[in-house]
Amino acid sequence: MAKIGIFYGSTSGVTAEIAETIHEKLGEELCDIIDMEEDYDEFSQLLEYDYLLLGCSTWGAGEVQNAWREPLFDMDIEKPDFTGKTIALFGAADQVGHGKHFAGALQLMCDQFEKLGATIVGEFPTEGYTFEHSTAVRDGKFVGLPLDEVNQSDLTEERITQWLETLRPIFLAEESPVLVTA
Ligand SMILES: Cc1cc2nc3c(=O)[nH]c(=O)nc-3n(C[C@H](O)[C@H](O)[C@H](O)COP(=O)(O)O)c2cc1C
Repeated sequence: MAKIGIFYGSTSGVTAEIAETIHEKLGEELCDIIDMEEDYDEFSQLLEYDYLLLGCSTWGAGEVQNAWREPLFDMDIEKPDFTGKTIALFGAADQVGHGKHFAGALQLMCDQFEKLGATIVGEFPTEGYTFEHSTAVRDGKFVGLPLDEVNQSDLTEERITQWLETLRPIFLAEESPVLVTA
């Protein structure tokens, strides 16, 4: 059975909680969950999975969360081959306080893993969000799932559910049809 790897980086614990919720909703027996700060040593860990859910909050001005910086830098140098890997991106962000760089980390993650050959899935509509600018919008949609616990925490659960509904048929295609439609 192809396991799914959930890797996340989180400074104040918001993306960590989101990752836990995704883990629960998708099925704990189907996914491993890896904290980039505590449990990550090298990119070979990512390559163990054909299906990846990568969580990264946005810091600085549209930058990736700290725990992802060095791994992304290393991968940029070493260029591991992610061909055949399917990746969906999510992460906490703040559309009001940081509306000029909303969820920029999703775009940086997307660019990097696309360059390494991965297929990025899990785009999400921009409707319901209000922000000045986001590099994470491509063809009118976010390249992943931004979650705003600062301003719209009441929407987080339903956004995760909506997003996972689009991912289940892709990520669990090889599993039992019951899971695919659950
Ligand atoms: C100093 C600072 C810089 C931030 N920069 C951004 C930003 O550029 N874009 C954005 O969307 N959110 C930004 N945020 C908001 C964080 O992404 C948000 O607080 C998020 O919930 C943190 O998630 P984490 O605990 O998983 O790291 C920033 C927050 C702080 C405190």
